[in-house]
Amino acid sequence: MKTLPGFRDLFPEDFARRRYLSGLWREAAGRYGFVEFDGPTLESSELYRKKNSGGEILGQLYEFTDKGDRSVALRPEVTPTLARMVAAKHREYPKPIRWFNVGTCFRYERQQRGRLREFLQFNCDLLGDATPAADAEVVALLIDLLRSFGLGSEHFAIRLSDRSAWHDFLALHGVESACAGEFLNIVDKMEKMPVEKTEELLAPFGIPLATIHQFIASGRIPALDPLLADLEARGLREFVRPDLGVVRGLAYYTGVVFEAFALQGNLRAIAGGGRYDRLLADLSDGSADLPAVGFGVGDAVLLELINEIPAAKSLEEKFLTSVPPVQIYLVIADEKQRAKALGLAQQLRGEGWRLAYPLGPEKVGKQFGTAESLGASHAVVIGSEWPSVTVKYLADRMEQELDHSALAVWLAESKALTS
Ligand code: HAM
Repeated sequence: MKTLPGFRDLFPEDFARRRYLSGLWREAAGRYGFVEFDGPTLESSELYRKKNSGGEILGQLYEFTDKGDRSVALRPEVTPTLARMVAAKHREYPKPIRWFNVGTCFRYERQQRGRLREFLQFNCDLLGDATPAADAEVVALLIDLLRSFGLGSEHFAIRLSDRSAWHDFLALHGVESACAGEFLNIVDKMEKMPVEKTEELLAPFGIPLATIHQFIASGRIPALDPLLADLEARGLREFVRPDLGVVRGLAYYTGVVFEAFALQGNLRAIAGGGRYDRLLADLSDGSADLPAVGFGVGDAVLLELINEIPAAKSLEEKFLTSVPPVQIYLVIADEKQRAKALGLAQQLRGEGWRLAYPLGPEKVGKQFGTAESLGASHAVVIGSEWPSVTVKYLADRMEQELDHSALAVWLAESKALTS
């Protein structure tokens, strides 16, 4: 029996990598004053269909009818859930609201490198402030976050754009704003689509592909100036590149949009986000009209990227080896003392030490081998000398004999036991 395509078994070594990612995600969010929330992973399908997510994501929904005859979907993203939650209770929170989430999402996508059907996503969203200062705050958070993994401006960049520039472009070419979503979806997919296909899809809009390329190449996006000035003041300007080619595939974006991508390799976007000032009003029939901006990062591309960049890989390895499963291993050298060893094990665990011992009789040499493979820094040998025990510092085999009643204090004071 294998996992379904695009789903993963997380063995302890895989889960340790997830802990590394989510730990740094949470720390970055914390530095910017964001607090954690969560919502359900199963939602009414309507949440995504009703003017919300839109675009390609609707075709990727894990959708079914539940036993109560409701049409439901596993969440493909967290933004509609967040918008519903904030719309329901926003009066209870001071503005701006800064919330983050680390949660599982599901998309029935074609499986490829960095793209799965079940993945972990980190979302940061700032609600209740419509100014470029809010945009800059979330873009800066994204940059800081990626830097905390050991990635620099030589490894990633953030392509920044503003959908309002595209709305002006469409108005100039006589395209009604109601058709903008469909048009922007084509632009979003353009880079990955054969030219003939793009031309075929663009035909109903009456705008030649060459005109669109010219517009993208024209480059300047005046609406981004205040955001760029803010990032400049923070010393983060080198990480961002204005680029009209970024439009994003989700229907709810209204202003600034951005995507983080790796400068080398052929990876999909590391992160994506933007401003969505109408989603809360749409979801609450106008009762909660809050502007919002945010982004999402997935685990899969980030893990691929860490593997490729030595500086990032070595930071990860440092973390993975920093917390061994066990600090102390009790070596039971005399089975007659097992009851005493059990008492001691419970006492030390009660004091917070991560500790293991052999569950049945074993040769002493084998027990030391286990202690080392578990990463223990100390072995405590319990033998016929009880009530005396011998503590061995496994790094250099230095040892000390002491009464078991003094052990807890000795360990607490031991400088060698750092983790
Ligand atoms: P998104 O661009 O659809 O945006 O996803 C954001 C990130 O989630 C992607 O850049 C990628 O890292 C990860 N991701 C998406 N789909 C997959 C997949 N199938 N497998 C692995 N990773 C994936 C959103 O989801 C928006 N809700 C983000 C947002 C928050 N916008 C405003 N606030």
